[in-house]
Amino acid sequence: MKLEILILSLFAIYVRSKSVDLCGTSLTTVSGTHAPKQVCAGELIFEDDFDTLDLKKWQHELTLGGGGNWEFQYYNNNRTNSYVENGILHIKPTLLADEKGEAFLTSGTLEIYGGSPQDQCTNPLFYGCSRTGSPVNILNPIKSARIRTINSFAFTYGKVEVRAKIPAGDWLWPAIWLMPKWFQYSLWPASGEIDIMESRGNRDLISSENGQNIGTKLVGSTLHFGPNTDYNRYMHAHYEKTLQEGYDAAFHNYQLNWTPDGITFSIDDEVIGEVRPTDQGFWNLGELDKTNLENPWKGGSKMAPFDEEFYLILNLAVGGTTYFPDTVTNPGGKPWSNTSPKAATDFWNGRNQWLPTWKNDGSTHFQVDYVRVWAV
Ligand SMILES: *[C@@H]1O[C@H](CO)[C@@H](O)[C@H](O)[C@H]1NC(C)=O
Repeated sequence: MKLEILILSLFAIYVRSKSVDLCGTSLTTVSGTHAPKQVCAGELIFEDDFDTLDLKKWQHELTLGGGGNWEFQYYNNNRTNSYVENGILHIKPTLLADEKGEAFLTSGTLEIYGGSPQDQCTNPLFYGCSRTGSPVNILNPIKSARIRTINSFAFTYGKVEVRAKIPAGDWLWPAIWLMPKWFQYSLWPASGEIDIMESRGNRDLISSENGQNIGTKLVGSTLHFGPNTDYNRYMHAHYEKTLQEGYDAAFHNYQLNWTPDGITFSIDDEVIGEVRPTDQGFWNLGELDKTNLENPWKGGSKMAPFDEEFYLILNLAVGGTTYFPDTVTNPGGKPWSNTSPKAATDFWNGRNQWLPTWKNDGSTHFQVDYVRVWAV
């Protein structure tokens, strides 16, 4: 009997040491409630197939303030705007007027402070937690969702693949991206931002600058970085890819490969852009050495600010005053100008232009089949 126990425990020790051997040393670090305890190179460290909408993995943002671009949506936690169906996550834009009546937009008040940890307003910037509508400045006319893994999963270095279908419909702005968890190098954009995919839902949006379709036939990937908002050097790390049938026609794989040597963006395994800083890092890559500003990344590696933990975000925004240029041609025009102090009102008053492009067949939904992250 004693011998059997001895043999068994020796066997257990052997198996355990074997599995340690099989775990390749990884450069990836992780944190959060859904981060694995052990990280092995090449292994899957986070995934969601969206069989359910797991709010332990995905935390909703609750704000009227949008993402800093005066967009027109109200991000809320409501199963009309974010839900799972047949293994697909849907983020669906709806009209606030359909729920509250049209008069509410010009006279109602939305107060979304919340009373428990899970329903707190997540961003008070830009009057994000309380707004009252007026005929000049209406309430956010669109409801939508933005979800993130800020509590559940953050990582430094890794491979990300998100299989998604972008929405079609004028002025829709879906995004798959990452934000820094700790703001180690100070506030935005000094601690970076990694945009894996963003696009515009217009089917026929033509840039007046180059005659190119910048709607559903184009997607972009971008790194934002700089010592302050005036010196965001994203233009040194911005990539685009076009597809004649439009990215809204089918699901595509949007991919990020992030290592201590660089960052590569791909779509369906085809590289669309690659950033490889020299030993002088993103300071030189962004030509910031030509300024006399203080380098916030001097304590970091050559990948700084992209050598700290980031978390995932999926969202569907609408309009705003930065992402849709005024110098475009679009069927029916663009109902607001980016310099208008009442852009949301102009957008809503011009809904005869865009509402007919929001078809009722699910094509306005930002759809995500899965999210996967592997260690490197
Ligand atoms: C969720 O959205 C639907 C559709 O807009 C609305 O009817 C419902 O009242 C909302 N639920 C809450 C709790 O706000």
